[in-house]
Amino acid sequence: KVYTDYFYDEADFDKNHFRYKNLHIPDGIEAQPLAVPPVLKPDKEEGNDVWFTIESMEGETPFLPGSKTKTWGYNAPFLGQTMVLKTGQHVHVTLKNSLKELTTYHWHGMEVPGPYIDGSCHAPVYPGEEKEIEFTVEQPAALTWLHAHPCPSTAAQVWMGLAMGVVITDDHEAELPIPKAYGKDEFPIVLQDRVFHEDNQFDYRADYDPMGVFGDTPLINGVIKPYIDVTTQKVRLLFLGGTNRREWRLHFDNDLVMTQIAGDDSFLAHPVKMTKLLVGPGERLQVIVDFSDYKEGDIVNLYTDDFKLIEFRIHHFEKDDSVLPDTLFTPEDPVVADDAVVRKVTMDDHDKINGKQYSMQRIDMKAEVNHAEYWDVTNTNSKSHGMLHPFHIHGAHFLVVSRNGQTPNPNEIGVYKDTIEVAPQETVRLKVIFPKEGIFMYHCHIIEHEDAGMMANILIVDPTKPEPHYDLMDMETL
Ligand code: C2O
Ligand code: CU
Ligand code: CU
Repeated sequence: KVYTDYFYDEADFDKNHFRYKNLHIPDGIEAQPLAVPPVLKPDKEEGNDVWFTIESMEGETPFLPGSKTKTWGYNAPFLGQTMVLKTGQHVHVTLKNSLKELTTYHWHGMEVPGPYIDGSCHAPVYPGEEKEIEFTVEQPAALTWLHAHPCPSTAAQVWMGLAMGVVITDDHEAELPIPKAYGKDEFPIVLQDRVFHEDNQFDYRADYDPMGVFGDTPLINGVIKPYIDVTTQKVRLLFLGGTNRREWRLHFDNDLVMTQIAGDDSFLAHPVKMTKLLVGPGERLQVIVDFSDYKEGDIVNLYTDDFKLIEFRIHHFEKDDSVLPDTLFTPEDPVVADDAVVRKVTMDDHDKINGKQYSMQRIDMKAEVNHAEYWDVTNTNSKSHGMLHPFHIHGAHFLVVSRNGQTPNPNEIGVYKDTIEVAPQETVRLKVIFPKEGIFMYHCHIIEHEDAGMMANILIVDPTKPEPHYDLMDMETL
């Protein structure tokens, strides 16, 4: 079976609401090869231990003809390098801040203790400062990501460029017959958009919109008009929804099929074939595309809505008869205790959770580590004036149980997720598990909504241990 829709009501799409900006390619821009971020080199490796340094820095990036754009990045002028970790590794990271303002380093999708290692707004690294963190990777292969998360300027810092991919690999992935030659048949694709102002500069304040900031120019791994040279029959694309606000509705020429193999935090139990793919802010979806029906010299385009995003230039390739197994992953499906409360979480307006704006010092919920619970997450926006809100939980993964009591979308079954689109007047039931202790945030991943207060704190405890004390930031200590 091949699915041919986005699984959401067209009326709820961002393009129908709130000062939507169409994408365009500025004059004088030539197609360029898709930039593939280099793999971040460890400082040191010793047995199972690996050391990295991640430096937030200022830089300049030549996006447009004329002046370079002032940007920020991680060990790079804009965005960063790809960090590759292996399940089981013990990772030491030096977090270095060479910016002029405080930032934090949030591991979105990584199951690490909160709040200091998780890198939420409670874990500031001040200008000129360095902090050491360490954690063990105890989760399956996935594309996770690192981004800045200070309150209330996450959106502005991500807009400047503080985001990069963190790929987790494991032995199971190594055995799967899927493309995995990074930069040759496997490409991370960070989907973003920006506005260029006078002298080719970003101006986040000028573009600010409480409903979420749109760019009018695509930046795909930092490239405005990218192409990919296809030299193998099958190509694996690791999409990351890196936008503050924009949803991506991806489809190829001739409705070329995308076979989704992975979601946010794991492979899918079973591959799902689709011609259309919606990628929301914060989400990651991995697909395999098979170009066997094309030949050298052909061009196949990837679009978002009707906008041409990436050109795939077909070169000579060898025949690839590899067959994807029917089962890619066996998720653990923990039992929810009979007496467990069903958590009710509402996303209200564009700036509240359960009717309240975020407060750094308030603990909104408390739960036990490694204890599965149902969360009923409701988008209370009206059908006529609402929007999709991508709900995200730090330090956790969840299985999607139902949408308004019905079967979830085919590509969210049997996969660990941490971010999920919830439509107006919809309740999504999640089975949530936190494998690590600490204080974590859950929020809408339209970053302006999160900064405006559509966010809350949860304390995860181990009842067999004394409750630790966590120092939480407040607006004054900032
Ligand atoms: Cu990408 Cu608070 O998260
Ligand atoms: Cu996160
Ligand atoms: Cu939202």
